[in-house]
Amino acid sequence: MSFTNSPGCYDPGVLTLLLILVSWISTEATVSAGAQEQVHTPTFSREVSRILEQNCVSCHRPGDIAPFALDTYERAREHATAIKMATRSRQMPPWMPSECCGTFKGARRLSSADIAVLSAWADAGAPEGDARDLPPPLKFDGRWTLGTPDRVLTMAEPFTPVSAVDMYRCFPIRTGLTSPAYLSTLDVQPGNRALVHHVAVYTDPSGGAERLDAADPQPGYPCFGGPGVANASMIGGWGPGIRPMTLPREVGVEIPANAGLVMQVHYAGRSHHGAPSAAATADQSSVGLYFVGDRPAQLIRYVSIVNAEFAVPANEPNYEVAASMRTPVAARIWGVAPHMHLLGKRIRMDAHLPDGSIRRLIEIERWNFNWQGFYMFDQPLDIPAGTELSVAAVYDNSPANPHNPNTPPKLVSVGEATTDEMCVGVVIITWADGR
Ligand code: HEC
Repeated sequence: MSFTNSPGCYDPGVLTLLLILVSWISTEATVSAGAQEQVHTPTFSREVSRILEQNCVSCHRPGDIAPFALDTYERAREHATAIKMATRSRQMPPWMPSECCGTFKGARRLSSADIAVLSAWADAGAPEGDARDLPPPLKFDGRWTLGTPDRVLTMAEPFTPVSAVDMYRCFPIRTGLTSPAYLSTLDVQPGNRALVHHVAVYTDPSGGAERLDAADPQPGYPCFGGPGVANASMIGGWGPGIRPMTLPREVGVEIPANAGLVMQVHYAGRSHHGAPSAAATADQSSVGLYFVGDRPAQLIRYVSIVNAEFAVPANEPNYEVAASMRTPVAARIWGVAPHMHLLGKRIRMDAHLPDGSIRRLIEIERWNFNWQGFYMFDQPLDIPAGTELSVAAVYDNSPANPHNPNTPPKLVSVGEATTDEMCVGVVIITWADGR
């Protein structure tokens, strides 16, 4: 098994050309600045604020995931050079899927014209311009990216993780919903961003989570692999880089009548920026539900394609792992979410159609554990019964992998801890027979 490098995917030629172009544009802008300042030198008020609002401020604002805000002139000026560097290298905005395949909703890509404007602005000394040119400031509804949810459900009690190591803990959440409800999306508000690495939300039709919680003296109960209750299904989650996204009107995610929810919270010993987490502080996270109203035409299922039986040998820089499943009936694929841990190097997901053709669903050439996502297609993909959906992952367990959790490297097998490995491709799907 090998990765085919389609044209356009990180083609070094194209990149070089782009960089040359970008530096040419910025030089040109600086040179002409004296003569035609009004026309050529970008200012914060006129151009830069608009680029930042559209592409950066959703994360770079007080209280969100980025380490500093970029929502005012003073804050942006302070970081002007870093903005130039991070956008030219395309480190920012963070967006992992290769351009080769899949057009996704909410793709975070800056145009080369915008990159050139940011560079020219930094090179010109980050001028403010005329404040009357500023766009209206973005409105954020409290801490919820999509605005106030229809219902907010919070962990019954705060929980304080006892140690600074990886820990998975599940918390039952009562919904009070006596009839089936349908979600267009859900969002999670971590109670303590320094502690919470990610959250997965499941339905719990059997009420098993409440019993497990009652049997444990602390709030919640330990859970690895999943919530450990019968008939649970994952309905959404939150993690570094995952932004909530509303589903198209005709589909929804079902919460069965009288079902509870379970929040599986991964408390990481270190925050995802590598800073030590605050010890002995509490977390009380919330989930926000956005309803669609009546039962939609189709129900979304999250189907996981998993290889749960592999181990990556120490010092192996290119260890390949694959998994696949065959669709029993025709289906529509709405999105995908590949998942690996720290040894992950690259990953792709494909649909092998019965006619022999292959549709690449997603390819991530440079895996970054800190930026995971549910990637929703601009246009869903219809596939016939008998299509093989596959995930193909490559791991780097050599000392050259800067994220390798072990020095020296050691055998790493499948598990839930960040320092274990996983090979999962989640497919967000509706089945033609409505199952
Ligand atoms: C999805 C959230 C998100 C978006 C959108 C985003 N950033 Fe960031 N940014 C982060 C986070 C988190 C960090 C710190 C961790 C990291 O570097 O990955 C960061 C770090 C940075 C840094 C510091 C990089 C370094 O290591 O020196 C700069 C500069 C930056 N962002 C600029 C931008 C600009 C400019 C944009 C828009 C064009 C942008 N970011 C969009 C989340 C985001």
